[in-house]
Amino acid sequence: MESRYLRRDKYGNLIETPKQLFQRVAHAVAQAELQWGTDKDASCWERRFLDVMMDLRFLPNSPTLMNAGTPSGQLSACFVLPVYDHLADIFSALRLAALIQQHAGGTGFNFSHLRPKNDRLHRTQGTAAGPVSFMKIFNATTEYVKQGGKRRGANMGILGIDHPDIEEFITCKRKEGNLRNFNISIGISDAFMAALEQDASWKLIHPNTQQVVKKIKARQLWDLVTESAWTSGDPGLIFLDTINTFNPTPDIGKIEATNPCGEVPLLSNESCNLGSINLSRFVDDHQGQTTLDWNGLAQTVNIAVRFLDNVIEINNYLSPEMRKIALGNRKIGLGVMGWAEALSKLEIPYESNKAVHLAERLMKFIAENSWNASKGLCKERGVFQNWEKSIYYPNSPVRNATRTSIAPTGTISIIADTSSSIEPFFALAYQRQHILQDETLEEINNSLIRYMQRHQIEPSVVTEHIQQTGTLSGLVSIPEKMKNIFKTALEIAPLWHLRHQTAFQKYTDNAVSKTINLPKEATREDVDFIYKTAWREGLKGITIFRYHSRNSQVIQKGILS
Ligand code: CDP
Repeated sequence: MESRYLRRDKYGNLIETPKQLFQRVAHAVAQAELQWGTDKDASCWERRFLDVMMDLRFLPNSPTLMNAGTPSGQLSACFVLPVYDHLADIFSALRLAALIQQHAGGTGFNFSHLRPKNDRLHRTQGTAAGPVSFMKIFNATTEYVKQGGKRRGANMGILGIDHPDIEEFITCKRKEGNLRNFNISIGISDAFMAALEQDASWKLIHPNTQQVVKKIKARQLWDLVTESAWTSGDPGLIFLDTINTFNPTPDIGKIEATNPCGEVPLLSNESCNLGSINLSRFVDDHQGQTTLDWNGLAQTVNIAVRFLDNVIEINNYLSPEMRKIALGNRKIGLGVMGWAEALSKLEIPYESNKAVHLAERLMKFIAENSWNASKGLCKERGVFQNWEKSIYYPNSPVRNATRTSIAPTGTISIIADTSSSIEPFFALAYQRQHILQDETLEEINNSLIRYMQRHQIEPSVVTEHIQQTGTLSGLVSIPEKMKNIFKTALEIAPLWHLRHQTAFQKYTDNAVSKTINLPKEATREDVDFIYKTAWREGLKGITIFRYHSRNSQVIQKGILS
């Protein structure tokens, strides 16, 4: 918090404490209440906002923590910008991306409208650079615009599976260091998956002329994708037809892209404010019996939805188009973090049907309560402007076109001192690379320490082993049950990772950001299976990462290795 979030004066001296940060944010966000209510209403909600944040039950996305109540005032984490096939349009998108990233937001683009590499340019008699070349310019821009000096920006680059440059795109990140400020995803259509299943050939089509440029076996492209993902973690997939089936405002536009980590499919120029509920804070311990506090959860969801709707009002928009569509659809993305920690407190292994059922039940509950909260706000404040053009018209007046989204919570889960998003524990002891300060942080999993205290197990029994291996596996002196509860990401079979993602996606309006972490020994066939299953299960996107498939990774298991 000190290096990135707490405010400093012009000399670099800290001028706020964590409590003052939360007070600043709660105050700024509660100001939206004054449009509909009294001073008393605003201070009442300010207190509630402050309580949920101070208690680490709910945290908004980083830009809100950093910028609320400051001159920046840009509070959203996620943006999608259109990239059209004219030089001026490409650089307009780049200009906006630079501004968004300067204010701590992340940007997603679909480059499929760009004409392919080496296409003839009539006006200049030259040839086109193609999507991957332009992405290099976007990448370089991100490199030098360091989100207000606080963190490096992030981009999502998407190319449709029928674009003539798709083969170059699929492999563009294989070499380490290439396009390092981009996550890349292939825009997959149902038609492509059908061609793959029938082992048919697939047409690559010029985006402007619609002419077939090349025919290639669907299987050949698919193998290139899984091979690349196995080699370097990229590309992921986004399932555009599935996404558009759930597009709440199809008459406003088709969804072509997502934000950088994939949890929010958005229309061009649209943004989304995220916030996450810390599930581990809703596990109560009554004399050794742990239960979920459903009432507390319902109350927090209600406060969080109101908080995020307020953010839309007080947000500083960086272009008139962005303002128009943000106010038009009022998308918010409430999600969760601390899932693995909550499960460990409930003593339920991640790799169990019980955990997957609970995931569904919990997310259903959060979705229903978010829906009710948004409906409640609608009575006070009215429907979102595009409501009449939405799938909710005419029977379901609601304030927000989407309400839920599961973000990676990369930094806010560290602030909340809990496990990130819906991920299992990565390791029980790990080294984390501090991206900006070139420093390594060594950590031991707090949930494990708390579990051992509860069960009166001496820390010395496990310390050395987990420092060496990051896991409990192979330790003979501890109960099997404890080993199951604390199984780590790489020990958990990929299918269980997918089951959790599917369970949460079932009740999430937007998408779920999840990395299917695989051990180093995982095969290309494993990647093939995971990617196909993801599509079959109706997921909106999928990402894998094979341990040590890149030399530089943010988190390493074990400390003494
Ligand atoms: O935990 P925090 O709120 O910082 O972020 P997250 O949940 O890990 O990521 C949520 C979204 O923030 C991502 O999908 C990106 O849109 C954006 N982000 C970014 O722009 N730059 C980063 N370095 C990290 C996240």
